[in-house]
Amino acid sequence: MPNLDQYLDQQREQFENELYELLRIPSISTDSQHGEDVRRAAGWLVDHLSNLGLTTELIENGGHPIIYAESAPVAGAPTVLVYGHYDVQPPDPLDQWLTPPFEPTVRDGNVYARGATDDKGQMLTHVKSAQAWLQTEGKLPVRLKFLIEGEEEVGSDSLYRLLDQSPEKLECDVVVVSDTSQFGPGQPAITYGLKGIAYFELRLKGPKQELHSGTFGGAVTNPANTLARMIAALTDENGRVQIPGFYDDVIPLSDQERSQFAELAFDEAAFMQQIGVDGVSGEQGYSTLERRWARPTCDVNGIWGGYQGEGGKTVLPAEAGAKFSFRLVPNQDTKKIAESLRQMLTGLCPPGIKMELIDMHSCPGVLVPLDSPYVAAASQAIERGFGRQPVFIREGGSIPIVTAFSEKLGVDTLLLGWGLDDDNTHGPNEKFCLADFHRGIKASAYLWEELSKIGQ
Ligand code: BES
Ligand code: ZN
Repeated sequence: MPNLDQYLDQQREQFENELYELLRIPSISTDSQHGEDVRRAAGWLVDHLSNLGLTTELIENGGHPIIYAESAPVAGAPTVLVYGHYDVQPPDPLDQWLTPPFEPTVRDGNVYARGATDDKGQMLTHVKSAQAWLQTEGKLPVRLKFLIEGEEEVGSDSLYRLLDQSPEKLECDVVVVSDTSQFGPGQPAITYGLKGIAYFELRLKGPKQELHSGTFGGAVTNPANTLARMIAALTDENGRVQIPGFYDDVIPLSDQERSQFAELAFDEAAFMQQIGVDGVSGEQGYSTLERRWARPTCDVNGIWGGYQGEGGKTVLPAEAGAKFSFRLVPNQDTKKIAESLRQMLTGLCPPGIKMELIDMHSCPGVLVPLDSPYVAAASQAIERGFGRQPVFIREGGSIPIVTAFSEKLGVDTLLLGWGLDDDNTHGPNEKFCLADFHRGIKASAYLWEELSKIGQ
């Protein structure tokens, strides 16, 4: 019988092949045409987890199914809730993928596929580490509860309902999530802060149909011109948000945190090169890391209206619209912001335009305490798995349910990211480094052992 480390080494290829199986399923949660695929991915996980000997359930809760699986209780050791998601973002723009998004392809030690890092690959590390314990030791050193949802990328509605309806089912001592990033290649990290989000769609309707812009322009309000004016009013030229009261509840960055950020080896030139820009900009008085991790922002996510085809067409469009979102920092109130935004845009809406503002979803930002024995155990496990001590970072992405774990279950979440900033999350050519996949599995396997030493 191999020991844990031997087993992990022997199973490398098998683990990779299983990851590719899951990556082949286009479980795009936002696209109703992929409803069946989302179910297929959920079914794959149910089979997989129950084959490991875990008590597994497919929870139907209104939206995409949630998978719940648990191992046996371990007396005197903590219960750990492992959260992850099997849904993925749409693969568009398709023509920019070098290989098809749902045909996982290995190049230079990375697997390329939608969901490779976000979050199928990262999530699977914990399933595989549980398998390694069960296959070599016959049991886990802590009780694990897996909670894997299919709506993370669309706001987690079903999971919020589950937390309200059955919090006792999810009772635990700590939550573990791998859906974030390392600080850089070879430098693992524990993330202690995530941004929140407030996401909106704005639709402006003008005349009942497109008009000749010569005959009607200047006298009839143009929805695309109006949209441009409204979007421009959201921020100043440095990206500072102009909604009244937006910064009221923002907690200023402490000098201590600013100097911690400054001590991290962040290479701005390499960052610009990675994303293909020759300059960066943002709120005055803040560094790039501060802007990305700890200051609220506003971004247009999509914008449309009027003629987009070849050549020119002189029309005054009948409608125009945009999707835009604010990334929020802890303590900002999503409701207050939505109300203030609505008031501001209503005030900017001229005669002849009907405005519809849709509040799509939101969640607050979150900070998790670092002075806990769980964080110490995670640091230890990461050092053993990755061969290097983690640094402590914040990140700009959002994982909506993390706030609810602390509010509804009263527990902290360990955000242990195995991804990298250049993984092209949500973009074309998403990837995950296979060496990090295996290091993540190792770190996870050691994490169960380190956490078991804490007791209850
Ligand atoms: N894995 C990301 C969250 C993330 C991204 C954390 C980058 C840290 C760094 C997650 O799957 C995600 O993308 N979440 C969405 C949530 C939103 C749709 C409510 C996000 O942040 O856009
Ligand atoms: Zn994710």
